[in-house]
Amino acid sequence: MAEGIHDLMGNIAVYSMNIRTADFVVSNTNPVLCPPADKPEFAFIGRSNVGKSSLINLLVSRKNLAKTSSTPGKTQTINHFLINGSWFLVDLPGYGYASVSRSKSQAWAPMITTYLKKRQNLITTFILIDPRLDPQKIDVEFINWMGQEGLPFSIVFTKADKLSRNALAAAIQSWKKKLADAWEEFPPVFATSATDRRGKDELLDYIATLLPSAA
Ligand code: GTP
Ligand code: MG
Repeated sequence: MAEGIHDLMGNIAVYSMNIRTADFVVSNTNPVLCPPADKPEFAFIGRSNVGKSSLINLLVSRKNLAKTSSTPGKTQTINHFLINGSWFLVDLPGYGYASVSRSKSQAWAPMITTYLKKRQNLITTFILIDPRLDPQKIDVEFINWMGQEGLPFSIVFTKADKLSRNALAAAIQSWKKKLADAWEEFPPVFATSATDRRGKDELLDYIATLLPSAA
């Protein structure tokens, strides 16, 4: 829950969520072996190398809690991290990278889709997008699949440090246009950078709004 105080006007001022502890719990390839589904959970998905693991490290202010690599295909398991002892962040394998062997990339799909469809405590999923590329078919297909399944999600544009402010705005605009074909409304959208740390507080504040007050 975001740390908040009542200001003099009686309004609640919400300050950035305080991450006190972040602990690795378990890695597995079988969604059935995830920890008990008794705490709110948020997952990170997107193409290999888009920055999922780096974003988790940014959120928890730890360099190597989630393992990162400049070589795509680093994360190949479902990884649970327990935050403040009361909710989970989940680092998922990437999808759709040509250099990953065909058999392996096909093996990921059911692992990921089963996890996303069956995980009962999953509050929302952050779909990470590289704003330097034109909208990619595989991302559009994944987003549309989430919609068909009725699974809630937000979009996070990563590596924002690699683009000028104008180029980033243009990229987000072109994604909005692309998704307007299938979607009446655009989901919540964030821009982040693990390098200059932008977007961290916005994302944590958003998570805080989705957590029960006790978490
Ligand atoms: P897989 O586990 O392979 O699917 O990749 P991932 O999506 O977890 O990506 P990861 O966090 O491992 O980052 C991939 C590469 O991108 C690493 O070299 C990171 O240092 C780099 N990277 C991640 N986020 C950012 C960012 O915000 N800015 C910049 N400049 N580089 C980033
Ligand atoms: Mg990773």
